[in-house]
Amino acid sequence: MSDHDRLLALIAEAKEASAVERIRDEALEKQKLVPALFASIPSLPPGERKARGQEANELKRSCEELLAACKAWFENQALASERSGAGFDATIPGKRPERGSLHPLTRVTRELEDLFTSMGYVVLDGPEVELDWYNFEALNIPRDHPARDMQDTFRCDPQGNVVLRTHTSPGQVRAMERMQPPFRAIVPGKVFRQETTDASHEHTFHQMEGLVVGRDLSVGHLIGTMKTLLRGVFGKELEVRLRPGYFPFVEPGFELDARCPFCTDGCSVCKRSTWVELLPCGMVHPNVLRAGGIDPEVWSGFAFGLGLSRLVMLRYGIDDVRHLLSGDLRFLEQFA
Ligand code: FA5
Repeated sequence: MSDHDRLLALIAEAKEASAVERIRDEALEKQKLVPALFASIPSLPPGERKARGQEANELKRSCEELLAACKAWFENQALASERSGAGFDATIPGKRPERGSLHPLTRVTRELEDLFTSMGYVVLDGPEVELDWYNFEALNIPRDHPARDMQDTFRCDPQGNVVLRTHTSPGQVRAMERMQPPFRAIVPGKVFRQETTDASHEHTFHQMEGLVVGRDLSVGHLIGTMKTLLRGVFGKELEVRLRPGYFPFVEPGFELDARCPFCTDGCSVCKRSTWVELLPCGMVHPNVLRAGGIDPEVWSGFAFGLGLSRLVMLRYGIDDVRHLLSGDLRFLEQFA
């Protein structure tokens, strides 16, 4: 049997393109059908070498052609059978695509945005890299004021004129600059503090500022708004109490606590006190209205700074604030 015939016999047994590929490798490389022919040339008398060389080259070329044609034939066959739907089984279970879901912070933010826009608030955005002016000065916190110590700040330049915002309150003055009173606005967003982190403190966390500017606003309006907010978040009426709180940009300033939504006689969430500290707030200081170009003799305002990260923790029973921005899928998948 000639080399060519042996090759044909091998191809006759092939059933798919990859088998032809294998035969090509073995015939032309390993089993040395053609290579053996070339290898025999040096041992021939010089007069016969040229003819043997031509024969070997011709055989190699025709083998290559034959193998390429066979491979193409198998490939066409496979394609045609795939297109005809042969062998397709509609009952084999499909692969379930992996679905993403909204982050709990995004969910609560969107719920609150819906709630507040339904009450006539606009949703504003502010820069995370903020001027010292908006973050502190315009909020009645001059450079040498001890209140600056309450928020350890990441500074972005040696002079400290640019900072990572430590709270969403700079949104108050930015809102005043953009809008004519009366108006209502919320400013949700990420804030940064140089904190030693623990289960309830992160260096990067979320707040939502609220600001209402109008005529003759009172603490009563503030409390009513806060109660509506809590009803929206927890789905029930919660008793609230106001304690005095010091923030240079509000006067008077309060810490608004709510009755623990999870217990009646003390639990780990409320640290056995039945109250949870939720909402620092107060009546906008006249200096802040002035910094925003609004006449405090005509207009008044109230503001609140919701600790959004802590609210999300309360809402979903999350025991460590550091889970929120950890990017850990084992945590995030629980909200899918
Ligand atoms: C402020 O940031 C004020 N700007 C709030 C304010 C706005 C008062 C308007 C009056 C009027 P405070 O530093 O307390 O206040 O932070 C507000 C809330 O952010 C806290 O109640 C808490 O829920 C949350 N918070 C503060 N520090 C952290 C932290 N390191 N990690 C997570 N949440 C924090």
